[in-house]
Amino acid sequence: MAAIDILVATTSGNTEYLADQLANQLQQAGHSTNMHYEPDYSNLIEALNPNSVWLCCVASHGAGDYADSMLDFAEELHQHKPSLTRLKYGVIAVGDSCYDTYCAAGRDCDAMLAILGAKRLITHLEIDMSQDDPDEKSSTWLETFIKSL
Ligand SMILES: Cc1cc2nc3c(=O)[nH]c(=O)nc-3n(C[C@H](O)[C@H](O)[C@H](O)COP(=O)(O)O)c2cc1C
Repeated sequence: MAAIDILVATTSGNTEYLADQLANQLQQAGHSTNMHYEPDYSNLIEALNPNSVWLCCVASHGAGDYADSMLDFAEELHQHKPSLTRLKYGVIAVGDSCYDTYCAAGRDCDAMLAILGAKRLITHLEIDMSQDDPDEKSSTWLETFIKSL
C-alpha cells in the first residue's frame, strides 16, 4: 500500500474539493494520503524517499498560471530544478477550455516533474470545468492511477 502526497493548486476551491474526493477514493483502496493544500517546497523535497508518490491536482488561473495555493511551490521548482528521480507521480490538470491557455499549469507541472527525472505513472488527466463531470472523470482516471502504483 502506498503513502500518497496530494498537492493542490486552487484559487476558488474547486480543485480542493476534487482532491478531497480523490483522497477518500485512495483511502478506500487501502492507501494513505497526506494533503498539501499549500504545498511547501522545502518540506516536500526534503521528505522525498524511494517510495514517494505525488498526486498533483492543478488548476490554471491568470493566463495559464498556477492557481494561488501552488504559485510559490511552482516558482521554487522552476528556480531550483531539484533531482526527482526517487519520485513517482500523476497529474490532474483542471481548467476551462474557453481559455487559450487551457490547463497550462497542469501541463507544465506534468512536464516539469518528468524533466526533473520523476516517473510518470500514467498520462495526465485534463478536466474541462465547462464541459466535463469532474467527479466522474477524475474518479475513473484515479482507478487507473491506483492500478499503476
Ligand atoms: C481569472 C481566471 C483565470 C483563469 N485562467 C485559466 C487559464 O488560463 N486556463 C484554464 O484552463 N483555466 C483557467 N481558468 C478556469 C479555472 O481553472 C477553473 O475555473 C477552475 O475550476 C478553478 O479551479 P479552483 O476553484 O480550484 O481555483 C481561469 C479562471 C479564472 C476565474
